[in-house]
Amino acid sequence: MEKKPCSHSLAVKTSHVLPPDTNYHGTLFGGTLMSHIDDVAAIAAVRHCRKAVVTASTDSVDFLEPVKQGNSICVEAFVTWTRNTSMEVFVKAVTEDLLSGERKVCATAFLTFVAVDENLRPVPVPEVYPESESEKLLHEGAPLRAERRRERRKYNREFAERFGTSYPWNK
Ligand SMILES: CC(C)(COP(=O)(O)OP(=O)(O)OC[C@H]1O[C@@H](n2cnc3c(N)ncnc32)[C@H](O)[C@@H]1OP(=O)(O)O)[C@@H](O)C(=O)NCCC(=O)NCCS
Repeated sequence: MEKKPCSHSLAVKTSHVLPPDTNYHGTLFGGTLMSHIDDVAAIAAVRHCRKAVVTASTDSVDFLEPVKQGNSICVEAFVTWTRNTSMEVFVKAVTEDLLSGERKVCATAFLTFVAVDENLRPVPVPEVYPESESEKLLHEGAPLRAERRRERRKYNREFAERFGTSYPWNK
């Protein structure tokens, strides 16, 4: 499979922040921002591999700034690193006061997507290569982040097995 640059997968979505998506503080629901993040990141992953993908994991998302009603929210994402079947995607969300032009980064996140066949089994993806300084920084840090995810996944699987499927679970 032909290698592709990080920039090939870039996906961007800008939306107005309007009342159905805001809480009683007049700011965007955290869950709505996470939904934008997952949506744009998935488009970047599919653009890179041109295969169906599933979200395997989302690293922690810190809400750094409130996103006010009437402002815009711009979410951009691109693939930073790949292994065999998985792709790491970096996402940055920027809010803008459209009247003043002031912009703030309100969240960043890393998500991992896995390319799958029609039976939802993992399939290989093309390699990605960085070009800009920022892309190189993200690419070089990815193996360590992937290793941390592997450890976290093992821990969470053991945790899930410990609590099982029975309800009420606290017995
Ligand atoms: C993600 C999924 C396809 C992995 O399938 P699997 O049979 O467990 O496959 P493997 O353990 O062989 O992992 C395949 C790849 O996924 C990666 N992976 C699996 N779980 C991961 C996780 N939680 N975080 C990051 N990467 C993960 C592995 O590192 C591996 O990457 P590589 O091939 O590049 O080395 C499977 O767990 C799944 O379908 N999960 C549900 C996905 C889903 O429904 N998402 C929507 C939100 S609920």
